[in-house]
Amino acid sequence: MRPSTFLPLGLAALTSGTPLSLARRSLFPPTSTAKGFVLVANVTDLSRDLTPSIQHFKLVGVHVGAGLETAVLTPDAGRVLYENGTDVEGYGIAADSSLSTAAAPAGFIYPYGMQIIPIPLGVEEDEDPGDADDADYVDHVGIDVGTAQRGVGIRDPPPASTPSTQAYGPDAGTFCVCFEAKPAYGRPQYPVRFARVQTVDGVAYQQIPDGCAPIRLLAQCAALEQVPAGAIYGHDFARTVRCYDNVAAVSWS
Ligand SMILES: *[C@@H]1O[C@H](CO)[C@@H](O)[C@H](O)[C@H]1NC(C)=O
Ligand SMILES: *[C@@H]1O[C@H](CO)[C@@H](O)[C@H](O)[C@H]1NC(C)=O
Repeated sequence: MRPSTFLPLGLAALTSGTPLSLARRSLFPPTSTAKGFVLVANVTDLSRDLTPSIQHFKLVGVHVGAGLETAVLTPDAGRVLYENGTDVEGYGIAADSSLSTAAAPAGFIYPYGMQIIPIPLGVEEDEDPGDADDADYVDHVGIDVGTAQRGVGIRDPPPASTPSTQAYGPDAGTFCVCFEAKPAYGRPQYPVRFARVQTVDGVAYQQIPDGCAPIRLLAQCAALEQVPAGAIYGHDFARTVRCYDNVAAVSWS
């Protein structure tokens, strides 16, 4: 995949002339609270959606190695996640073990956590030399065994900084979802990636590769699952977040 042209962030902000008061009202549909949630993709600019559309697809993890999952979007049920941590240690997005007691002995059932890291080269990139370009601009999003990466979570709704209850990554970047032309084990279809904000000569840029659609991952309330019997973790640090009852049913205007 060849990367698309640079999008200077400052310019995009300058050219959007929507009156703030109107924009605000439409972004604040009613929310509930829950400890569990699934993440639902919302394509903010429908002209950049993939074909067929991935609007309202949900985030799950696909096994790509021992204890390693790549975050992908699916039209089916989403993986139940929770925001985990403390104010002192910071928060991350965690998930229950995908192994049950049937598959792993007691003491070997670990929690999973979201990780946003450089794309593991040779694992998810195909042999097309142009494809390696993606790795310069977007990170891999994984759900892996162990502690969730701190500094990743669900933004509070107003009056806090952002107007919706959506996942945030390690910088002000944007989640996106990509079309995988040659899906295979380790290179699943619809991988979720994170487009970092890069500063070049003092100007902030963000690059969404061709074949990828920028998305927001909105939290939709879900019941936190039971911790599997024999697990070495619990839900003691699961935090209550604001979430939508049903993202697909929200009226945004
Ligand atoms: C969700 O997507 C719709 C359609 O593109 C858009 O109007 C709305 O503003 C989006 N909501 C959020 C919170 O991004
Ligand atoms: C959840 O948070 C607690 C407290 O910060 C931490 O000890 C634990 O490792 C975290 N679990 C995950 C899966 O991140």
